Amino acid sequence: MEPALASPSVDRRTVVSLFSRLRTASGQANPLPFYAELRSMGDVVPAPWGGYLITSYGLCDRILRDRAWQVPDAGWRARQGGATRWNARSSSEMGRTLPALNPPHHTRVRRSLGNLFDRKSVAVIKHAVEGNVERLLDRLTRKLRGGQADFSALVSEELPMSTIGEWLQLPPADYPLLRSLAHDQVFTQELLPSASQLAGSDVATVQLEAYFRELVQERRRAPGDDPVSAWLRTWDGLESDREAADEAVYLLALLVFLAAPETTSTLLSTMVWLLLEHPRQLGWLRAHPQHIPDAVEEVLRYDSPNHVISRIATEDTTLAGERIEKDRMVHLMVGAANHDPAHHIDPEVFDIRRKAGHLSFSGGIHYCLGAPLARLEAQTLLAALLRRLPGLRVGAAPVWAPRVGFRRITELQVVES
Ligand code: HEM
Repeated sequence: MEPALASPSVDRRTVVSLFSRLRTASGQANPLPFYAELRSMGDVVPAPWGGYLITSYGLCDRILRDRAWQVPDAGWRARQGGATRWNARSSSEMGRTLPALNPPHHTRVRRSLGNLFDRKSVAVIKHAVEGNVERLLDRLTRKLRGGQADFSALVSEELPMSTIGEWLQLPPADYPLLRSLAHDQVFTQELLPSASQLAGSDVATVQLEAYFRELVQERRRAPGDDPVSAWLRTWDGLESDREAADEAVYLLALLVFLAAPETTSTLLSTMVWLLLEHPRQLGWLRAHPQHIPDAVEEVLRYDSPNHVISRIATEDTTLAGERIEKDRMVHLMVGAANHDPAHHIDPEVFDIRRKAGHLSFSGGIHYCLGAPLARLEAQTLLAALLRRLPGLRVGAAPVWAPRVGFRRITELQVVES
């Protein structure tokens, strides 16, 4: 790793303009030039709205693994003041879930989940994922006979929802509402949500809260062989009070649901888009399917579903020559860090044969618990696409939602030749 660069004095307006351009349609279609510009401003760039942007792979990686940096927990959110975004209904509720807890609370809750997707559980879920992939590709194939079809709506949005829905044993009739609530809720986790996005996120949070609280009560009344019933058994042993156990399980169910479909749908659409844009590599992959896992990792590196992870300084510190006060937020720009030339050779080249390190599933104690499930879905879908739809091509340029933190392809028209 090269030594961290001190940031030259950065003009605030330059950074504001960069983020405005990043949110335009062309910025969403290709954020890489913006990230290169951001990295050129230094490894630590003061953010015009407060806090700092961390652009290098080395520093992002170090901060994720260093206990001196914490997540923005409920206490930190409360200290920001009632009128700030951090105390909106949606943000306060997120502030009670696993990724917003610090040790020792985080350790206790994470331990209660165990290894959610160990080899044995993944082997069981694999069968269901394969079945769903075949069903969704049957439907896509039928639509393609009539011309263009939207891969995003027909496959990417469906597979992660069915996977998590079946795992949690939710009624399929609820999937459309839950999916739309997840799309609305995510804005509270965005880098710079607008007032109306935040309001939409608050409304979605209230509905999701009612849904998952009721789910916990249902599983109390009729426990079964499902994760929510298993968490209730675990938490009844951890808490003397039944209400506290119910509350802990509600927060787990809410979080696992929010963490899963939004991110995985983006991974699936991005994977198909990037591979169809690189037909020679797709052809090579068809001849070498043992490299499907490497291809998925390169997609995760090249355009991660989540481009920003936030941390808080627990003490006054200095990063790359920049003084950072205790309680300040740093935004780890992992979408930019994954393209840091100090870490990756030719980072702007999409190359499924590289053995890519990436920060797309975070690092340290908050490392994504669902990574094996997301990988399983992407690898299973890719294997089936190679086998079933060799003539698949992009029908029209994809459409991205104007977001910075959580990427989303809203439309990906494909055709079959
Ligand atoms: C491609 C898909 C996914 C991506 C890119 C992703 C990314 C992430 C990231 C970046 C974090 C850490 C945030 C931080 O450090 O502050 C995280 C945490 C988490 N993810 Fe994922 N995720 C994905 C899919 C899933 C799925 C499918 C599940 C569950 C079924 C899941 C469950 C979780 C949980 C429970 C945490 C909290 C871990 C903790 O705080 O200890 N994720 N994910």
